[in-house]
Amino acid sequence: MNEKKVSKVIYPGSFDPITNGHLNLVERALHIFDEVIVAVANNPDKNPLFTAEERKEMISIAVDHNPRVIVDSFEGLLVDYAKRTGVHTVLRGMRAMSDFEYEYEMTFMNRKLDRDIETIFMITGLRWFFVHSQVIKSAVKAGASVDGLVPDIVSNRLSEKINGR
Ligand code: PNS
Repeated sequence: MNEKKVSKVIYPGSFDPITNGHLNLVERALHIFDEVIVAVANNPDKNPLFTAEERKEMISIAVDHNPRVIVDSFEGLLVDYAKRTGVHTVLRGMRAMSDFEYEYEMTFMNRKLDRDIETIFMITGLRWFFVHSQVIKSAVKAGASVDGLVPDIVSNRLSEKINGR
């Protein structure tokens, strides 16, 4: 009997923290793939606000522990992580053209490192075009509310971490 192959994609990123823009992409990717692996890059050099464990926990809560979303983290090269997991398709979101150069360089670097890696792009939902983790953190630091731009769990954790409440 032929077993149906489960289609999977790796959605890598810093997710420091996850935003509604990221979640929009995960949701849409689930219409195309059976499983989405949200892979949190554990790179202490980037000096993240949240630890990889904290980021993973927020993502799991934000996706409501959907069994089709695997939340994982990795250190080192993405291509090595892809090899380890046996998943060779990588998903990245693109907002405006300003994202393009960075994504283009990263895609070519990954393909140079491993010819089997294929990166696909989805355009971020229009509502989330200006939303990215850095602007969210800056807004909270400046005292603004980010409700509606990030999942509730993230909004709460940001307040705790940045404002100590
Ligand atoms: O959310 P980000 O910060 O734009 O995600 C970037 C990320 C984590 C996907 C990228 O930096 C990455 O893949 N890091 C792992 C190291 C690596 O593989 N580098 C070579 C490709 S540039």
